Amino acid sequence: MASTNPGEAPADAGRNKRPHHREVFAASRAGHLDSGLRRFFYRPDRLAERYVKPGDLILDFGCGPGFFTREFAKRTGDTGKVIAVDLQEEMLRLLKEKLEPEGLIQRIRTHKCSEDSIDLSPEWDGKIDIAFAIFVVHEVPDPTKLFREISSLLKPGAFLFYSEPPFLVSGKEFRDNLALAREAGLALVESRLFFVNRAAVLRKE
Ligand SMILES: C[S@@+](CC[C@H](N)C(=O)[O-])C[C@H]1O[C@@H](n2cnc3c(N)ncnc32)[C@H](O)[C@@H]1O
Repeated sequence: MASTNPGEAPADAGRNKRPHHREVFAASRAGHLDSGLRRFFYRPDRLAERYVKPGDLILDFGCGPGFFTREFAKRTGDTGKVIAVDLQEEMLRLLKEKLEPEGLIQRIRTHKCSEDSIDLSPEWDGKIDIAFAIFVVHEVPDPTKLFREISSLLKPGAFLFYSEPPFLVSGKEFRDNLALAREAGLALVESRLFFVNRAAVLRKE
């Protein structure tokens, strides 16, 4: 594993491990991920309302500085929990710094994963009610392994909401990833647009 300095992506983050592997979004640019403009267009509150139920145990994989995590935590309430996972310690620090004064931190468990594993199995296997992987899979070196891990973590019948920006991920690459997810036991339920982005809802069989 490469070491990570606060505010920086890992030193080998841009290494091409597969044709479509992109650089890790640097924590020094985290402000772009939590702007009012982004909130206006993406409506993370509506996403949470649509897919999260009060009391859910939620996986927010590649949570960044917590733009979506915040709304998932509000929606799940005091009886639920969000496991906010990121590769960069600095992203998790920013998330905690923001959500603590909002009184949401007790609904969140942060987890720093490694580049090639979520590192939550076997403790959380079969326990997650809903998982989100938003604008992150294209940064992961091994999506096959990622989808397998997410599939193991989900309860049978639980959903994964998966989204990618079209300027980084072509329609073909997105479909290829859906095929990898299918092989991991995640069946496509719905293909939709999320603002202007590619998105899909998948169900653990
Ligand atoms: C473009 S940001 C998106 C953040 C958040 N999902 C959002 O939309 O606001 C991608 C995030 O994924 C994280 N990331 C990249 N590769 C990762 C990996 N292999 N495992 C976990 N997180 C990763 C980055 O550190 C970054 O915080």
